[in-house]
Amino acid sequence: MESEFIQRAKALPALGAGLSVDVYSPDVLQLVQALGEAQWRPGYLEVFKATTSAMRWLRRQLPDLPLTYHGEGLWTTQPDFPQSHSGRQGVAEACAQLAALRSAWLNHECATKQMAGYAFGTYLPPLYTELSATMTAENVTFLQARVDAQARQDAIDPALVLLEMPPLTYFGCGSLAIPRFFRRVTERSACGLVLDIGHLWTVYRYTGAWRRRTVESFVAEFLDEFPMERVIEIHVAGLAEFPMRADGGTADDVRERPYWIDAHGAPIPALLFEMLAQVLAHPRLRSLKGVALEVDTKPIATIVEEYGRFVTRFDRTITEVQRIGHAGSLPSLQIETGYEIDVPQILTADERSALQHQYRSYVHRVTACDPRSIDGELSLLGGSPEDLSRYRTTYLPHELLHWGGELQDMFPKTCGLLGDAGVSLEQFVSAWFSRPRPEQDDYDFFLLKIDRFVEFVEQWCPAAGRCASEEARELRDAYRAANEPIGSVEERV
Ligand SMILES: [Fe+2]
Repeated sequence: MESEFIQRAKALPALGAGLSVDVYSPDVLQLVQALGEAQWRPGYLEVFKATTSAMRWLRRQLPDLPLTYHGEGLWTTQPDFPQSHSGRQGVAEACAQLAALRSAWLNHECATKQMAGYAFGTYLPPLYTELSATMTAENVTFLQARVDAQARQDAIDPALVLLEMPPLTYFGCGSLAIPRFFRRVTERSACGLVLDIGHLWTVYRYTGAWRRRTVESFVAEFLDEFPMERVIEIHVAGLAEFPMRADGGTADDVRERPYWIDAHGAPIPALLFEMLAQVLAHPRLRSLKGVALEVDTKPIATIVEEYGRFVTRFDRTITEVQRIGHAGSLPSLQIETGYEIDVPQILTADERSALQHQYRSYVHRVTACDPRSIDGELSLLGGSPEDLSRYRTTYLPHELLHWGGELQDMFPKTCGLLGDAGVSLEQFVSAWFSRPRPEQDDYDFFLLKIDRFVEFVEQWCPAAGRCASEEARELRDAYRAANEPIGSVEERV
């Protein structure tokens, strides 16, 4: 595994300091222009998944800037990934976007928004167990094989699959320490890794490590166990308490243990740059190809200011870390994989179904506090039960009712009828998790929310069903129209 990884890593360009961005939020061309006016030119942009036509358009708009790809919707932590919609159509779409950007890598959170038939609005970390690490490694190998096969068909260099260590949103579950989990994954697959500094802070906070040690000693111990030699990219993003304040968050609060969670729109706390300095000094960090501030949903003025501080302090160090890594570049890897994907399965059918069962229990644990599943593989990773309750009783309802579209704004007439009938929107949360549903389409939380809400109204207030369907139709039409502006621009150029 190690030699395959090294060969793939050596073929990647060193991109230096960059930004991880969304095409639309903020407008990526306005951002590049504002950076240019401040005399900053990022070494690369990592672009979050959008439509393939938007990726082609962006590639043409920025012909000289290296662009890499931040995928979404590839649920590699889940046992059914290769057979699922995500593992088939999702991967095919990711390959098309990689080719459109000419990306050197495919980064994806090692996390999921869909598990055992249940959908969430934001990422849930994997179960941190031996079985889950093996499953993830097997799925990542499958994903890399698909990417390789498509690259061969397109006669382009294959992108390297990178797994990003996800944040903890108040809790993590499992019996295996997080750095050891990633070591197990890399022992069984040739993938690269992304280490996100803010995510690392949430591990410090929500595994209870903050009770025993300083941030510095936690980071030192974590990095010594984590497969640092596989880290291709580092991310730094904002952290904020939830819900975020209108003034942009609490990142500069001086309180000792804030309930910060990953928040790309929030300012970057000074503490994270200190942690970044510690990470960049680690002796096993020898495959680094880029360090990006993740800035989607952040105001352009804040991005320019933070990027200026970031490159002023770290540009030379990043260049030096890249230089002393795998020196020189090798010819592209000759991929032997044919068009047929034949990835050997490591896990037995029994182990797969055991893991599937554990993920069902995981959903119950985090949505309904199932008392049967408190111990063993589903035990908390050292955090407190109160923090898990914070997720279940505060974050999760907010996610379903307000995040990715305010229900009251999306369905004003229907919500009025529900109010008249005495049906509270809180009932929607329990209805959402009342039963598993097969994955049918590309994961899109906004569209999912529309479908589930209509279903909820039909069940709990049939008299408002027609109104809900009508409002849902208008929402879907408007969403489709709003999502392809760049595609239609592309048709004209
Ligand atoms: Fe990240």
